[in-house]
Amino acid sequence: HPFSEPACPHRVAGGLVIWSKKMPQGLGLEISHQPHSMRHVANLIIAIERLKAGTSEDVLSTDFRDENLLSVVLESIVEEKNIFERRSAPPQFSYTGQGVCSVSDSKKRSLVLVENSMELHAVLLQGGNDSRKVFLNMSTYVLTSSSDAKPVALGIKDTNLYLSCHKKGDKPTLHLEAVEDKRTLSPIGAESEMKRFLFYKQDTGLNVSTLMSASFPNWYISTSTQDNEPVDMCQEGAARYRTFTIQRQI
Ligand SMILES: *[C@@H]1O[C@H](CO)[C@@H](O)[C@H](O)[C@H]1NC(C)=O
Ligand SMILES: *[C@@H]1O[C@H](CO)[C@@H](O)[C@H](O)[C@H]1NC(C)=O
Ligand SMILES: *[C@@H]1O[C@H](CO)[C@@H](O)[C@H](O)[C@H]1NC(C)=O
Repeated sequence: HPFSEPACPHRVAGGLVIWSKKMPQGLGLEISHQPHSMRHVANLIIAIERLKAGTSEDVLSTDFRDENLLSVVLESIVEEKNIFERRSAPPQFSYTGQGVCSVSDSKKRSLVLVENSMELHAVLLQGGNDSRKVFLNMSTYVLTSSSDAKPVALGIKDTNLYLSCHKKGDKPTLHLEAVEDKRTLSPIGAESEMKRFLFYKQDTGLNVSTLMSASFPNWYISTSTQDNEPVDMCQEGAARYRTFTIQRQI
């Protein structure tokens, strides 16, 4: 990675990034927002490095003014941006591993595969009668530009059926899709169609999570208030259950 941690001349203090190393005397630069992308960070590093290297005579001269600083910074950003963009690989979700999970909703209902309709239903299974219960094979990913969310792909154990979210009409809906070649899921381009197989797993408690579509922000995998209804997508605030107990099996 071109900008690994030790190369970054910054300290993070409560969300405040302060650049202080070897700045010309009397000159301080403070960024009050967290840079949001690697490119922002890169641009800032490039700008700071240039200031430190003193490539501009203006920076060191005594009649250095704010507009000089601004022009040095802007110059660096405009100039370096294209180079950085060309060098960096397109963002992608990289596969990191997989594990089989037991999944149930907040009403303790299990997921059952209804073969002929290719739907998952949320069903309250009686004790000892859980042979129809499906286990999900959860593949984990990391997005190269990094964030706190955990992208996962969810396949039904021992099948090639994967949960996907795409629009049917004007509304994102949940589907089961057969994936013949699992290599198409590893990696997944950040802007590719295959993103429909990714969900952000957000932990809301111990073993309790929501699963938000990576393609449609704020659309979640959810179950109906009624039993034996299909698992589908909904937005926050809908009268459906959006949290799932997800427990890794050994
Ligand atoms: C188990 O579930 C199936 C389908 O729901 C049902 O037909 C069967 O009677 C149940 N068996 C027991 C022992 O509860
Ligand atoms: C789980 O998913 C991975 C990656 O798609 C696959 O290689 C593996 O065979 C699957 N395992 C099961 C038990 O379905
Ligand atoms: C969470 O899941 C693990 C197994 O993956 C289990 O050992 C543990 O008891 C669970 N904790 C709760 C609070 O359900």
